[in-house]
Amino acid sequence: MEAIARAHTNIALIKYWGKRDSQLFLPMNSSLSITLDHFYTETKVQFSDQFEKDSLLLDGNQVTDNEIMKVTAFLNHVRNLAGTKTFAKVTSVNHVPTAAGFASSASGYAALAAAASKALQLDLTGTELSALARQGSGSASRSIFGGFVEWQKGEKTDGTDSFATQIIDEKAWDISVLSVVVEAGPKSVSSRDGMQRTVDTSPFYEGWLATLEEDLKRIKEAIKARDFTKLGEIAEANALKMHATMLGAKPPFFYWQSATLDVMQKVMELRQQGLEAYFTIDAGPNVKVLCEPMNEQMMKEKLAALPSVRDVIVCHPGPGIQYLSE
Ligand code: PMV
Repeated sequence: MEAIARAHTNIALIKYWGKRDSQLFLPMNSSLSITLDHFYTETKVQFSDQFEKDSLLLDGNQVTDNEIMKVTAFLNHVRNLAGTKTFAKVTSVNHVPTAAGFASSASGYAALAAAASKALQLDLTGTELSALARQGSGSASRSIFGGFVEWQKGEKTDGTDSFATQIIDEKAWDISVLSVVVEAGPKSVSSRDGMQRTVDTSPFYEGWLATLEEDLKRIKEAIKARDFTKLGEIAEANALKMHATMLGAKPPFFYWQSATLDVMQKVMELRQQGLEAYFTIDAGPNVKVLCEPMNEQMMKEKLAALPSVRDVIVCHPGPGIQYLSE
């Protein structure tokens, strides 16, 4: 009754921002991401009748706060599927830059979904696993698969058609994703709370939603044609639109630090000078910069030279879920 799984983080090029059903984690819109080779979570789940409650050891620390409640709520879904009430011991290690606000709920819940369902011998398909991971964290639905991945929002109210599928695998198109670390520490507004506040109060949210189908259609064309310029332009504009919705929320909020702007401006400036790159930003201050592999070294040097940049880690498209043995 135990299993170990590894899941990689992903970076969305078309962002998921807002739920239509927060119980089932059903998104307002479909989204699209690249799974990253460099950052991942490894999670071991053991179920045993000897345990009196669920426990979570995360990066060597016993977790007792809010997070264990989320994990228990998630494990209840898995237990329901398997028809058991047995508690679990979860041991999870994040292989992401430490102390950089990088800990990822996407890789975390994807690995937990895979290890827990495997430990209970549920034998789920990729899409079933994706729909399960979604209920821990929306973006986790995409980390089940490698390469370029789309999470279809689905139409049903029960969530059974809201899962991710792979568009092309990690070997089909090599793109460099430079992970630019600018700031450490936890953020003040979680993505969960931030997206809810935006949906509930921002007058800009409707405008954002209205453009998404077109962004998604065009970025899929770009992927099919391996058109880096088109991909980058759509991704950068999509990220900026998502961040703009937060400025209209009540109360307003944003995730950028001055260092975030330094990186954004640098990327735009380099692009004007002929070094082609685009940025995207999630619910935090760090920036991901997209460029073609032939330019990655030069890009890395230019970004690392900014005084407000702590580190630049070069990633490429990475694999989906892997099961490991001890
Ligand atoms: O699934 P969450 O709660 O990690 O939310 C992800 C939100 C963004 O990272 C901002 C966008 C995305 O699609 O990953």
